[in-house]
Amino acid sequence: MSRPIPENIIEEIRQRTDLVEVVSEYLKLERRGKNMVGLCPFHSEKTPSFTVSPEKQLYHCFGCGASGNAFSFIMQMDNLNFPEAARLLAGRCGVKIPETNQVERKKEDFKENIYRLNRLAARYYAYCLNNTEPGKQALEYLHDRGIKQETIEEFMVGYAPSDWQGFFKFARKKGAGPDLMIKAGLVSPGREKGYYDRFRGRIMFPIFDISGKVSGFGGRLLSENEKSGPKYLNSPETPVFDKSSILYGLNLAREAIRREKKAIVMEGYTDVITAYQAGIKNVVASLGTALTKTQARQLRFQTDMVITAYDSDIAGEAATWRGLAILQSTGCLVQVADLPEGSDPDSYIKENGAGAFIDLINNATPLMEYHLLQMKKRYDLSTDRGRMEYTDELISILLSEINHVEQNYYLKKAAEELGVDEEALRSELKKRQRWSNHYKSNKQGNEPAGGGEQSQKININPAEKILISLMLQSKEIAEQGRTILKLDYLSDSRVKELVESIWKHTENNDTAAADKLLNQFEDPQINNLIGEAVTDPSLQDLPPHTAKRMAEDCINKLYKVWAKKQQRELQKKLKELEKQGADEQIEELLRKHQDLLRIKDDSPYRSGKGGDIDG
Ligand code: CTP
Ligand code: MN
Repeated sequence: MSRPIPENIIEEIRQRTDLVEVVSEYLKLERRGKNMVGLCPFHSEKTPSFTVSPEKQLYHCFGCGASGNAFSFIMQMDNLNFPEAARLLAGRCGVKIPETNQVERKKEDFKENIYRLNRLAARYYAYCLNNTEPGKQALEYLHDRGIKQETIEEFMVGYAPSDWQGFFKFARKKGAGPDLMIKAGLVSPGREKGYYDRFRGRIMFPIFDISGKVSGFGGRLLSENEKSGPKYLNSPETPVFDKSSILYGLNLAREAIRREKKAIVMEGYTDVITAYQAGIKNVVASLGTALTKTQARQLRFQTDMVITAYDSDIAGEAATWRGLAILQSTGCLVQVADLPEGSDPDSYIKENGAGAFIDLINNATPLMEYHLLQMKKRYDLSTDRGRMEYTDELISILLSEINHVEQNYYLKKAAEELGVDEEALRSELKKRQRWSNHYKSNKQGNEPAGGGEQSQKININPAEKILISLMLQSKEIAEQGRTILKLDYLSDSRVKELVESIWKHTENNDTAAADKLLNQFEDPQINNLIGEAVTDPSLQDLPPHTAKRMAEDCINKLYKVWAKKQQRELQKKLKELEKQGADEQIEELLRKHQDLLRIKDDSPYRSGKGGDIDG
């Protein structure tokens, strides 16, 4: 694994970082025995099961299985990769990172260059809006829409004039290369030759990342009947712009969101700008798409209360529901503000004032409640078909989105609505639940707990888990394991890798500190396993001989499972050879596997004296 940051530097960051401090910046922790506990930031819960061990510098959530150390915590919370998280932690604890890896460095430089070019573009567009003849009309338009000069400046709104090479020529003069301009999505190569500006004749909204860097742009046509493309044109995907992971306005709203302990999510640039100008500053927009998991997490870092104020035309769309369900599953309390048909926050505030809008927000309906209301509007409950479809959708939501308490509450409500017995609905729900559990368990590679979207679920049995836990806690047991356990006994190749790695540490006369191992594996599944293994409360502080005995038992069990499998395979092979009449080969095979056939309940580990616990 090539790491752009040297191991000794990682080690230094590790030593200087206190996980409790890091976690406390995101959520409230309370002491419980040796550990600290809090509400898990990675899934929705009402009683704290997120456990941080100050001693081991690890966290584990007994609810969702998320596990890791300070690095993985930052990676998940701030959606960073390992080097980025390490850099962030390094900054916190004052460790300097020497730039070693050239490739990585180049990539960073490249991103920085795009940010710098974007900043230059934002300044150019702002200049064009405020100081040039072609910008006059655009400025007038903005003022007419009620956007004040001060707000224009705060959001750095600009104007891209309609010439084909306005920005291109300007940026050339400033020394930018065409290639960079293309990579930044500001310029496109001409069909035959030359280059032309992507944004022309548009009001420009720079899109800032949370730290205030310009990631990309949204450009609105100045006059909508102009036949020059869509009303809004955004930057394309670039190394610094990913539409699905950015929230417009978050850089300005962050403080207010934390202060008010709630965030208002809107649809558009102008909604955010108008609300902000009216003094409602805890507002962001999701750039015209349904909320994604990344966006939901970003909001969750700031607050657990999110209110959506979407235009009524998108409020009921399936994608919107999905986005809101994602938000809720991230651990946010989601409420929906109901805007009158045909208005968006921008127009509503302009017509009715900020106070009226705040009233709407304060009267927002909890997501589930709102969902029921919408369903009631959508289905004709006087017909069988309508009631069936209503029930169907209800059950899907009850299965996917919410906890048991809420389930009961909404079952009751829906039963009233349908005029049926609550128990009938409940048994329908149970039926579907069983069905979906069955479906899930027959499916390979379920969604893993704790963020790892891409990796396959680990195939591991309890004995392996316990053994790993014990080996991580004691050098002696790891040593013992190394001498008796064969990697073949383990089922998953990643588990093998982990065990090998533990042994390598022991060989070097080093305890395989779990947090060191965590930095070694990219696979979140493995990291979860490590975290779980070392924090499992039932395996803490065991007397050494008990731990040793347990480890032996585990190894025996693993051996037996392995031997049985080998036996089965052997029998199969023998049968085949018999059919072919390959007597010689049969004999050879039998000789090779003599032991295997003899061993039934025997084990490779016969210590003689280890027979009894405490013996
Ligand atoms: N949007 C987009 N691309 C489009 C249309 C819309 O990215 N082709 C996004 C923009 O972020 C826009 C938001 O969706 O701000 C909402 O779109 P819309 O309601 O059409 O625009 P408004 O924000 O209401 O803009 P205006 O008030 O200027 O019409
Ligand atoms: Mn609008």
